[in-house]
Amino acid sequence: MKTLRVKVSRFDPQTDTGPTLVEYEVRVHEGARILHVLHAIHDTIDPTLSFRSSCEAGQCGSCAVVADGKPVLACYEEAREGMVIGPLALPVIRDLVVDLVPALNDIPGLVPKQGCQPPSYEEMEAIKPLRSCISCLACLSVCPAVSVIRFAGPTAMRQEMRLALDPRDSVDRVTQAVESGLFTCTSCQACWKVCPKDIRIPGKAIEKLRALAGLKGLTLPRHREVNELIRTTGRSVAPEGPSFLEQVDEVIEPNGEVKGTVGFFVGCMYTMRLPMTPLDAIAVLKRNGIRVIIPKEQICCGSPLIRTGQPDYVRTLQRRNIDAFAFRGIKTVMTMCAGCGSTLKHDYPETIPFRVMDISEVLLEYGIEKPARLNVRATYHDPCHLLRGQGISSGPRELISEVIDLVEMPPVCCGSGGGVRSGVPEEAHALAEKRQEEIKKTGAEWVISSCPFCEFHIAGHTPLPVKNITSVLAEGYREKDRRPHRENQA
Ligand code: SF4
Ligand code: SF4
Ligand code: FES
Repeated sequence: MKTLRVKVSRFDPQTDTGPTLVEYEVRVHEGARILHVLHAIHDTIDPTLSFRSSCEAGQCGSCAVVADGKPVLACYEEAREGMVIGPLALPVIRDLVVDLVPALNDIPGLVPKQGCQPPSYEEMEAIKPLRSCISCLACLSVCPAVSVIRFAGPTAMRQEMRLALDPRDSVDRVTQAVESGLFTCTSCQACWKVCPKDIRIPGKAIEKLRALAGLKGLTLPRHREVNELIRTTGRSVAPEGPSFLEQVDEVIEPNGEVKGTVGFFVGCMYTMRLPMTPLDAIAVLKRNGIRVIIPKEQICCGSPLIRTGQPDYVRTLQRRNIDAFAFRGIKTVMTMCAGCGSTLKHDYPETIPFRVMDISEVLLEYGIEKPARLNVRATYHDPCHLLRGQGISSGPRELISEVIDLVEMPPVCCGSGGGVRSGVPEEAHALAEKRQEEIKKTGAEWVISSCPFCEFHIAGHTPLPVKNITSVLAEGYREKDRRPHRENQA
């Protein structure tokens, strides 16, 4: 047995103006789950504590709570000393009990067809990744889209796709999904990352439904324009001046000893719209002994087409990009756009003849020269496709902290992904406004990120300078070169 101290959110809407955190100390067995702790509080300290549970085995979904900021199943997650336990971000009925009914009512049911056959073996296999939902609604509670626009939410979309694959169902699921907000999903992947059943809703349901919507002519007009631009120019955005690729040599040798060689996949936004950022990256890589090869025939990675459900031309883009790097014998392809990196890592064939690394991974693998410290307080915005898409969180923070003091804010979507910035601009704007509120709370002087879409979008909604990690490192090096030698050593 052991003693654990936890804080639990208590709230009775009949009598309280808002929730309060109450600390409890309980005796529980080794390996106790959150649910054991809640039972111990209820049975030995306060019988009025309200929470839900049923199966106590990860099967019914009724016990979902938020532990230390993350939705989890209370019967599954081990309790830790100092843990803070609260309700899901849904309307609270009392303490940890939330109102599930409206959202559960939004999850569609099968409407049977007359005289249909049961699903074939192949159809059952296709449905498999979507059917293990236990209706815990953890996904809905973290979805940024539902907080600003009418959207039935991730598990409703999962169910629409599941039913679209079922030959017994009689409803036009694709049109229904579009009407329920299919194109408002920002592809942030938060729903997938909190799902206790690991259901990959963005990839397995939303992108698939969007592709089916395309077959019905329901793709958003702005997304069709982007598709056309990619097919005619190879790029998802038009240039606004000389592109990065036009400004650099194909091979850039580092200063001094060569520690490593990478091929640089630049991405549409950085090369066409924000070339100063990859130029900063080149300066940082040169300074740190990394040879950079930049195949000029590289084109869009295909992410804008995959996310918006227009997969037809993606194979062509993939083949041309793979050939561009493979032809030069490049073994490591470096990205600095979170979306391109995630796409190359997860949507390209597993047989690609090179490994893909984000620039933060490259810099940390080879090690960097210490830059000068700048007297600035900054906050870091985790790009969804870097944090959740590539699991990269501590590396960027390690690099940034070499230069400035970092103040944290919650890692939520800025609203620029999934074709939302172009297709549903009012939603993108509302999400960026919420992001700006979080930025303001930190008191930061700069915002730092690692994705051109996030940087561009956030910059349009904050008065603060928004910078890429490599630009911050480059500033640190410029400052180091300006300062007298002795000062840098201090
Ligand atoms: S990917 Fe993000 S925006 Fe889309 S449904 Fe999931 S949580 Fe919501
Ligand atoms: S999809 Fe996953 S997170 Fe969402 S309700 Fe179902 S089990 Fe819970
Ligand atoms: S009590 Fe059923 S899933 Fe936790």
